[in-house]
Amino acid sequence: MNYFDKIKKAPIKKDAIILGIETSCDETAVAIIKNGREILANQVISSMTEHVRFGGVVPEIASRAHTTAILTAVKDALEEAKLTKDDIDAIAVTQGAGLLGALLVGVSFAKALAFAWEKPLVPVSHIRGHIAASYLADLTLEPPFITILASGGHTAIVEVKDYYTTDVLGSTIDDAVGEAFDKVARVLGLQYPGGPNIERLAKEGENNVKLPKMLANNYQGGEYDFSYSGLKTAVINYVHNKTEKGENLNKADIAKSFQCSAIDVLVEKAIKAVKEKGYKTVTLSGGVGANGYLRERIIEEGEKLNLKLVIPQKKYCTDNAAMIGAEGYLQYLKGNFADLSLNAKAVVSLR
Ligand code: KG4
Ligand code: ZN
Repeated sequence: MNYFDKIKKAPIKKDAIILGIETSCDETAVAIIKNGREILANQVISSMTEHVRFGGVVPEIASRAHTTAILTAVKDALEEAKLTKDDIDAIAVTQGAGLLGALLVGVSFAKALAFAWEKPLVPVSHIRGHIAASYLADLTLEPPFITILASGGHTAIVEVKDYYTTDVLGSTIDDAVGEAFDKVARVLGLQYPGGPNIERLAKEGENNVKLPKMLANNYQGGEYDFSYSGLKTAVINYVHNKTEKGENLNKADIAKSFQCSAIDVLVEKAIKAVKEKGYKTVTLSGGVGANGYLRERIIEEGEKLNLKLVIPQKKYCTDNAAMIGAEGYLQYLKGNFADLSLNAKAVVSLR
């Protein structure tokens, strides 16, 4: 019997331990998750420092770093969980979205592992993974809820209707919010990664630079949509004009003002969704969810409405494999297994 026929015949267990692999960007991450909720191991080997001098992630460097790190990450995860391969019920891997070369390392490795260990191979959407991080943060969390999905590649207000059904109420029509943080950071001369560095600088500044609050009102009926390219351009123009005139730039004030503009609209639209659709729970997902100002603002607004707020630890907002294990468990329960022809996808859709 070939690999896939054997896997298809294996029983699906509700009590299951999933090994998750994530290599979509510059983190080689492996985690072991029990029943979709309990983190038995969480290993992250980042190549971030190798990208700093280039001002952003260099795909080829990231792919090579995954190739070097992935076996160590798997071994360390098994050791951390005090488990062996026999305890693992399935291998979940990020299929996309992300950098293609980087994803291919994880997908190829996961295929080899699944074949060698004779385990089901579960392809996982990175975006759904970010959302599933909320299940790790609050063991009582159940859909339905609203999540603010805010990362380097995505910005959306998402209705999570049940464990498998999501509806995107609105999303960005151009740049993602994390991308805007990274680009503005570069304009301000801050190092990669831009998001955390803007947040740090913003702590010393005031919200006194007038910047547009993009799509705070309707855009062609897309009342939950976002746009970040205009905000980014406004910052670039502001910096350019001041520099031309030889005026002093207060970078901390620019960082603070940008952060407020970028984040306030996310919170505003999430709260609007909660009110209009009658949800009682809001969660944060994606790397920008690690932003302290976003975390404070959603708590402030959520408390006014008595909402349940699920805010994952910062390390589970940014890329990690625990979220892939959590989503992998859900897909495992459905028997969504791949055969060994599984390929990586640069783009995946949430809609
Ligand atoms: O989810 P993530 O780790 O990777 C993607 O799936 O894109 O998100 C990365 C993004 C980057 O743009 C990064 O600058 C941003 O999240 N980010 C932050 C913070 N930490 C990470 N943005 C604002 N404040 C932060 N503290
Ligand atoms: Zn991500």
